[in-house]
Formats: sequence, C-alpha cells, structure tokens
Amino acid sequence: MEIYSIRGAITIEENTSENIIKNSEYLLKEIIKQNKIENENIINIIFSATKDIDKAYPAIATRNIGITDSSIMCLQEMNVEDSLPMCIRVMITAKLDLAKKDIKHIYLKNAKKLRPDLSIKGFSVAIDGPAGSGKSTVSKRIAKELNFIYVDTGAMFRTVALYCINKGIDCSNANMVANNIEYINIEIRFLDGIQQIYLNGENVTEKIRTQEVAKGSSLVAKIPCVREKLLKIQRDLAKDNNIIMDGRDVGTNVLKDANVKIYLDADVEERAKRRCKELLERDIIADYQQIKQSIEERDYQDKNRDIAPLKKAEDAIVINSTSLNIDEVANLIIKNIKENIK
Ligand code: DC
Repeated sequence: MEIYSIRGAITIEENTSENIIKNSEYLLKEIIKQNKIENENIINIIFSATKDIDKAYPAIATRNIGITDSSIMCLQEMNVEDSLPMCIRVMITAKLDLAKKDIKHIYLKNAKKLRPDLSIKGFSVAIDGPAGSGKSTVSKRIAKELNFIYVDTGAMFRTVALYCINKGIDCSNANMVANNIEYINIEIRFLDGIQQIYLNGENVTEKIRTQEVAKGSSLVAKIPCVREKLLKIQRDLAKDNNIIMDGRDVGTNVLKDANVKIYLDADVEERAKRRCKELLERDIIADYQQIKQSIEERDYQDKNRDIAPLKKAEDAIVINSTSLNIDEVANLIIKNIKENIK
C-alpha cells in the first residue's frame, strides 16, 4: 500500500450548518467510494472553506460518517480576488492499494470549474495572433495551470522550413517543396508537458528557433500541401485531449469549433522589443530594426496569403497585450475558459 493525498471540493448553496455538513458528507462519501478507501487507512483530513462559510465546521461530517480516529483540521481558504465563492475543499491522506494514476480527485457542483482537466474531455482553446504577440508564453502558462496540453503549430511550419533549408530547397518554391513533402516526417511528443518536435526522428525543438527558419516558415506556410499535411497532425492532437493550440489559423480553420477562441495582438514595436529580449536571453545578438522589419514581413505574408491567412475568427475575443504582462493576459484567458466550462 502507498500513502496518497486525494483532493476534492464542492460548492454549497447557503451558509447554513445543515448545508455545510450535508455537502461535506456528500463530498467525503464520493471520494471514499471512488477511491475505495477503508476507514482505518485514513491518516488525516484537512478541510478549507471560503470566507463566506462560517456556520459550521465541515469536520463534523467526518464523524457523521463514522471517521472518528483520524486527525482532522478545518482552515479558512486564502481569500483570492474573484475566486470561486461558497466552496469547501478537502484533502484526505490515506493508505491505498492503487497506482497514482488511478487516484480520483473529486470536484462536485460548481467546484468542477477548479479542475477543468478532470471534469471535461476534448475542451479546446485556440489562440491566434501575429508573431511576437505572446501566444506561446501565455499558452504555456495556461496549459500548466489547467493541466491542458499545449500545441505550438508554428513549430510545425518551422520544422518544414528547417528541412528545406537543410536540403537546399527554396522555401518559396511550391513545386520543390511539394516534391519533398512525403520525406518530411514530423512527430510531436511531450516531455514534462513541454512540446518536443521531431523531424525524421531528430529532436529539432531548439534548431527551429532561428531567424532564418522563422522567415522560411512563413513562406512554406503558403503552400497547400504543407498546410494539408500539418492540419491532419494538428486535428489528431486535439481529438482526445484538453488542448491549447496557438498559431495563425487555429480558430478560423484547424479547430473551427474550439470552445474558446482568442485573438492575441500587440503593436509591432512592442513585439519586436520582445523578440530582441528573447534572443538576447539566448545569447543571440539582436538588431531591433532588423527584427521589426522581419516581423512586418511575416505579418504581411501571414495575413495576405490565399489559404488560411491570419485573421480574427468571428467569434474570437481580441486581447491586445501591448501594455499587459504575461500574468494579466493569462488570467484574462483563464477566466474566460472557466466561464465556458459547464
Ligand atoms: O508562431 P511562429 O512564429 O512559430 O510561426 C511560424 C510561421 O508559421 C508563421 O510565420 C506563419 C506560420 N504559421 C501558420 O501559417 N499557421 C499556423 N497555424 C501557425 C504558424
């Protein structure tokens, strides 16, 4: 047997003693039933309640259902702005005959919103926008917080460009690229939740982050057979996962039915500054004017191509991140996602 901590939460309708105890009992019974916990294997139980709950201790529920010789505590939950009201949380530490992956954390009523990854499947968030608008940084942050997978579709176009550059193929020559497309095998794997991209078996996650590859990616992105090949990979990834996918045509094309669509923008000057900073952090000397010009060129290519150009989906929410920091943008999007989870 192993020792595990199992989480759960529930919301209550009214701050009355009866409601607090009844809901706490319901939550405990569900956790115990779904994880097959024996009374004698419970080590301790910690409850927290939001500030608006103060008419009874949820711990009373443990005695009502026969748990009498484990250590129990009740605390007040941190009072975080805009957090879920009228919520009782619990953590049970117990010895269990289960593998960690089989543990069931239980979120009931409105508390389901606290762990969208547990209560829903196939929830998709599309984040589109021009180069440097902060899509990938923000998407990574959100994916980590909500336990979604994050898919960077730009990396796939970059990988096609890297292949062409390595083979001396002109990225703007649609025929040449089409003749080689069958030899370009792209695979996505996740390492500690971070996307790794493989080109014909080689991990090229770092190699695709050069200016030359960025420029080439915008050119290959105009070629129909490239988009067709990558579209299939992108849609397959979204099939069984809760996913945040960023790119240029995710909300308008790849995941037209995404549950949440965001169009993330920022002034070109700010985007160029961010790219310079990013490159400098990787010890790459960056020329601001050159970077700004290259971003403008890519914006033009991405917005004016015939297939799947960068544009806001009709039902996308526009966020301009010019004067917002990463946390502010991420929190805006997370709030929106939680509101969309039933
Ligand atoms: O986001 P990024 O800079 O890594 O994207 C590289 C290029 O790939 C970008 O200039 C346009 C193209 N792209 C695309 O056409 N469609 C996508 N969904 C994602 C990227």
